[in-house]
Amino acid sequence: MACHIVAKKRGVPSHLLLHLHLLVLLSFLLVAKFDVVSGLNYTKYNKQLSSLRLERIQKHLEKINKPALMTIESPDGDIIDCVHKRKQPALDHPLLKSHKIQRAPSEMPKVKMLKPDEARGSRSNEAGVKGSAWQMWHRNGTRCPKGTVPIRRSSMQDVLRAKSLFDFGKKQHGFINPTRRTDAPDVVSGNGHEHAIAYTGTSQEVYGAKATISVWDPSIQEVNEFSLSQIWILSGAFDGTDLNSIEAGWQVSPELYGDSRPRLFTYWTTDSYQATGCYNLLCAGFVQTNSRIAIGAAISPVSQYGANQYDITILIWKDPKIGNWWMGFGDNTLVGYWPAELFTHLADHATMVEWGGEVVNSRANGKHTSTQMGSGHFAENGFGKSSYFRNLEVVDADNSLSSVHDISTLAENTNCYNIKSSYSTEWGTYFYYGGPGNNPRCP
Ligand SMILES: *[C@@H]1O[C@H](CO)[C@@H](O)[C@H](O)[C@H]1NC(C)=O
Ligand SMILES: *[C@@H]1O[C@H](CO)[C@@H](O)[C@H](O)[C@H]1NC(C)=O
Repeated sequence: MACHIVAKKRGVPSHLLLHLHLLVLLSFLLVAKFDVVSGLNYTKYNKQLSSLRLERIQKHLEKINKPALMTIESPDGDIIDCVHKRKQPALDHPLLKSHKIQRAPSEMPKVKMLKPDEARGSRSNEAGVKGSAWQMWHRNGTRCPKGTVPIRRSSMQDVLRAKSLFDFGKKQHGFINPTRRTDAPDVVSGNGHEHAIAYTGTSQEVYGAKATISVWDPSIQEVNEFSLSQIWILSGAFDGTDLNSIEAGWQVSPELYGDSRPRLFTYWTTDSYQATGCYNLLCAGFVQTNSRIAIGAAISPVSQYGANQYDITILIWKDPKIGNWWMGFGDNTLVGYWPAELFTHLADHATMVEWGGEVVNSRANGKHTSTQMGSGHFAENGFGKSSYFRNLEVVDADNSLSSVHDISTLAENTNCYNIKSSYSTEWGTYFYYGGPGNNPRCP
């Protein structure tokens, strides 16, 4: 076999050779598998695999999959490695060579004194919301030991589904539309990304944002399309090459994860989605501090149409003393942080926050994709049927959280996906959003 010869020339020990043989076999078997759950066909992503390419991928995997003290198998097939905190990928970043891992932020955002009517509202039950979603792998029952962080292991087939090794874990943004207005958010029509989002006014100083997001499992038409619902924390110019962005939420991405489950994700870039940054812990950057939450792991349970609704709460804010951008999940769980060292514009503050959905429309077969956003139903269907973001809040310069009042909304094509925002005492500023994509009015 070709790989045998190549490996021998390079003097690779024989146990590694066997390893390579197995990899060749395994990757052919695994990439060709048909996802019976989603009906997606991964076969067309089966590529000619040279042994050199396999070797290169294997090396990359060895770099990002850190040695585990313990391994937990999730019922959904994920392998969760419990990695010593100081061995996590973040610390491979050249800017973080002498980084000291923070245990906690210097302070949490303060909640502003509520007006009496708001206080009453926030105490009453959120009608119909069944509860907070957590993570599928917790069903295993085993926990990661103290001092370790759970990391979803990347597999050979995860990388092989990406366009290239360089593209693995990166967000493809395509080209920037020159006709886009500079005062509007980064909505780029023409590269196939479509949005239904709410956003704060520009030229504002923002130090964080929070929202509670309902979780659904929208269907995806093509393996290389995705559907996500997230918060964006942005700084810099949309038409520049150094836009800084911190993002977190849930996403369904068959290409990234090999299935169609909604997963908790994080993302960052400091150069407008070009070479820096990545999803989750797939490159060095995000420092995880939590031993219970695995970034990239499936969220469970998921909302059902006309039945139980489940949501997740995400808070991202800048530590006012140290400058790191922290992420909170649920009520008071700290997941970790994006170190201040990574950023240029965001080293100071954010200039815009966006909340909402994004899908990729690749127009396979010349038609608009039927990839769904949110629940797959339009905003006007309301509670139990449409996906929502509720209690939209921002963090201001004195590190206090307050309900956001001045938001604009935007959707490129409301016949495909739309958004409707409103205000109530219980849900503060909130919106419903989403849609089915392809339909008679969205051909
Ligand atoms: C998947 O796609 C490949 C190549 O396009 C095709 O040959 C195969 O029949 C498809 N499989 C299924 C189960 O649809
Ligand atoms: C939990 O993970 C361990 C380690 O991978 C595995 O041996 C075990 O079968 C898993 N248990 C359940 C209930 O899935």
